[in-house]
Amino acid sequence: MRKKIVAGNWKMNKTAEEAVALTSEVVNMIGDEVTGDVQVVLCVPSVYLTTLRQYLTGRVALGAQNCHEKASGAYTGEVSAPMLKSIGVQYVILGHSERRQYFNETNEQLAEKVNIALANNLTPIFCCGESLDLRQSGDFVGFVASQLTDSLFHLSPEEFGKIVIAYEPIWAIGTGLTASAAQAQEMHAALRQHIAAKYGPEVADNTTILYGGSANAQNAEELFACPDVDGGLIGGASLKSRDFTTVVKGVKN
Ligand code: 13P
Repeated sequence: MRKKIVAGNWKMNKTAEEAVALTSEVVNMIGDEVTGDVQVVLCVPSVYLTTLRQYLTGRVALGAQNCHEKASGAYTGEVSAPMLKSIGVQYVILGHSERRQYFNETNEQLAEKVNIALANNLTPIFCCGESLDLRQSGDFVGFVASQLTDSLFHLSPEEFGKIVIAYEPIWAIGTGLTASAAQAQEMHAALRQHIAAKYGPEVADNTTILYGGSANAQNAEELFACPDVDGGLIGGASLKSRDFTTVVKGVKN
């Protein structure tokens, strides 16, 4: 059975004090209220990773929001995968649409980031998703499938088995406009088929595919009930402990 995961992506939010408060609230609420088998991940700004690590438990793991594709060197301002590994980080978001859009990350560069993350035992949460233009007038399924092909399909089946995918339609991110459960299920099933065509049904069956894009306390349960939706990558709703915990509780085993 594939793992169910709910990851919070805090993006560039919270002061140090707020970050500690939110983390300890989330850890307590998850501990008290969540009984099902779901891995929670908090993807926090990198300056807080070391501090927040001490608040975490097995059920709540720590993730970064990006890493550089090189191990070290003259890349002012960047954070490397070996650095993240050295402070106990377990997950790293790669290829978020905001990084693709504002920092011009390409599929080829993301393939390198995936490689270095895996080489350092970090679990990549690999983001993919189409724009509104594509959704309205193009082959959006083919486009998202090609993001996987270009950045992930060089991996061996064993390596691919360590990847978590997050489907995040760009038009749903931070807009309050969520993909319907049917739209999410359609894409997730298509991606699973695409993975099966390359790696076979067993690898595809074991791949965790998260949904992200205005998932919140009200809609999470319905989205997570889709057979191919294995949890979520949560932006805005991960910034409030009560909302985030409710989202996590939306995962049914
Ligand atoms: P929102 O949940 O705020 O739409 O953000 C989704 C996202 O980008 C998570 O990575």
